[in-house]
Amino acid sequence: MNNNISYLTNKRLWLAPLAGFTDQVFRHICRDNGAEVMVTEMVSADGLVYDFEKSFQYAVIMEEEKPIGIQIFGSNPDIMAQAAETMLKKLYHLPATALPDFIDINMGCPVKKVVKRDAGSALLKNLPLAGKIVKAVASVLAGTDICLSVKIRAGWDKNSIVALKAVDLFVEQGADIIICHPRTQSQMYSGLSDWSIIKEIKEKTGVPLVGNGDIKDISGAVRMFEYTGCDSIMIGRGALGNPWLFKEISNYLLTGNIYQLPMTSKYKTIIDHFYLSIEKKGDIRAIKEMKSHLSCYTKNIPGSRKIRSLINISSDKQEILELIRELYHGISREN
Ligand SMILES: Cc1cc2nc3c(=O)[nH]c(=O)nc-3n(C[C@H](O)[C@H](O)[C@H](O)COP(=O)(O)O)c2cc1C
Repeated sequence: MNNNISYLTNKRLWLAPLAGFTDQVFRHICRDNGAEVMVTEMVSADGLVYDFEKSFQYAVIMEEEKPIGIQIFGSNPDIMAQAAETMLKKLYHLPATALPDFIDINMGCPVKKVVKRDAGSALLKNLPLAGKIVKAVASVLAGTDICLSVKIRAGWDKNSIVALKAVDLFVEQGADIIICHPRTQSQMYSGLSDWSIIKEIKEKTGVPLVGNGDIKDISGAVRMFEYTGCDSIMIGRGALGNPWLFKEISNYLLTGNIYQLPMTSKYKTIIDHFYLSIEKKGDIRAIKEMKSHLSCYTKNIPGSRKIRSLINISSDKQEILELIRELYHGISREN
């Protein structure tokens, strides 16, 4: 058994892949705030094989991001294997980059663009094909210390819950770790994830398991661990505008105390996020992309609505920074 499996699952707090959000900059912010394992946004295997440079940018990871996984998606076993192989070779030869600790296969994405190509959660409708994909990618990783994880949903719809069957098959074909977000494709992001599926997978298979879905606070994190018995938890939307959640959870798990970061520290993190984004992407792209993060950062702050709409129509870096300062200093004064 690959020793790195327990190295990864002993780390309890994972940041979920969120396309359009969890780029290198936000990953850096989450790592600084206690996210222990991270995963890139999904990278198209077809893209890596047929249009390498454009897709490869999503797979680039740095040494300081480790432990980290690269997530790939696709529906052809040979292309998935070729994509993994080409990507690893390129990363190995590029200066300042790093090899991932694991490759993750996306079998959870519910969006039309992906499932119409039989990839993402559509693979849960075709387990024989899904099994071939796992086997093909596992064969590329054999003999390396890179683990293989598969991120699954519960199934396609409520009449076809296949998670447990899928896990048995994927482990047989070479998967080391399962990440489970127990909603169906039909649910998209509505309703609630059914954590009893995670519990059942752990009880019946004992596979190294990461539980995901709807963890928004310390109590959700504790319940996920206690109820399901999963090894690690993965947080996605709960970290948007709230990367401090990792720190709060890890502090609670360690000490049993509830510690809330002061507003001044939160303000500093947002400013760091903005400047790092500018440094990596330049003003225009950073301002555009930061707006979705700023909308999350300011969401639950009383009286933030007006400031949010001013931020949304501004393309001036200084003006946006001043608006954030005004909002956060207003609260610090009140507290
Ligand atoms: C905007 C957005 C982008 C996402 N992108 C990905 C992705 O690239 N790969 C993936 O496996 N899941 C993706 N997901 C699903 C999340 O990783 C996660 O499984 C889901 O949001 C449930 O966890 P949460 O309740 O903690 O957010 C995405 C979800 C959202 C909302």
